[in-house]
Amino acid sequence: MPSIAILGSGNGSNAQALIDAVEAGTLEATIACIISDVQNARILERAKKHHIPAHYIDCAPSPHVLRDQAEAAVLQLMEHYHIDYIILAGFMRIVKTDLLNRFPKKIINIHPSLLPAFPGLDAGRQAFESNASETGCTVHYVDAGMDTGDIILQKKISIDATDTLESLMQKMHIAEHIAYPEALNLLFNLEINR
Ligand code: GRF
Repeated sequence: MPSIAILGSGNGSNAQALIDAVEAGTLEATIACIISDVQNARILERAKKHHIPAHYIDCAPSPHVLRDQAEAAVLQLMEHYHIDYIILAGFMRIVKTDLLNRFPKKIINIHPSLLPAFPGLDAGRQAFESNASETGCTVHYVDAGMDTGDIILQKKISIDATDTLESLMQKMHIAEHIAYPEALNLLFNLEINR
């Protein structure tokens, strides 16, 4: 069974969906640890509640990148927990070369748009403010670009005339919470059958 680490910076609702799937037996993986670059992030509270080791990594002084001592600290935790996959769930930092080289095609992210449309920040708002009639979420491999890695799975949602940004993002989260466990199952089964 693959051992995974989840990295996130905020609420952690996607991490919660993965925890729930593991606990329900619908995702065969061990969540070995949850890591955040934000000390009081809700994602760490969720980890503790489920008796999953929770780690805060101080990334100062870099505002947007995981680098230097912080990157080394993450790598050390990956070794300590014998991590097979790094799962980004709302992790608001760019992952750099050392981690990418150490985990080729083993770092996964979820993004709130149908990539390649609307990469980067505020993807939900970008879609909402466009003339698109649908958007969705994408689970993809992480590479050196910004949301450019190969796509594993996408789920669409409609943008209705009655939608507000808030209602759209609620639909987005519902889709994400289904898509992430589904995509990881796909991936882990592929690995087993390789
Ligand atoms: C999600 O919308 C995800 O697609 C994006 O960040 C958000 C994280 O939400 N990368 P949560 O912390 O999992 O609730």
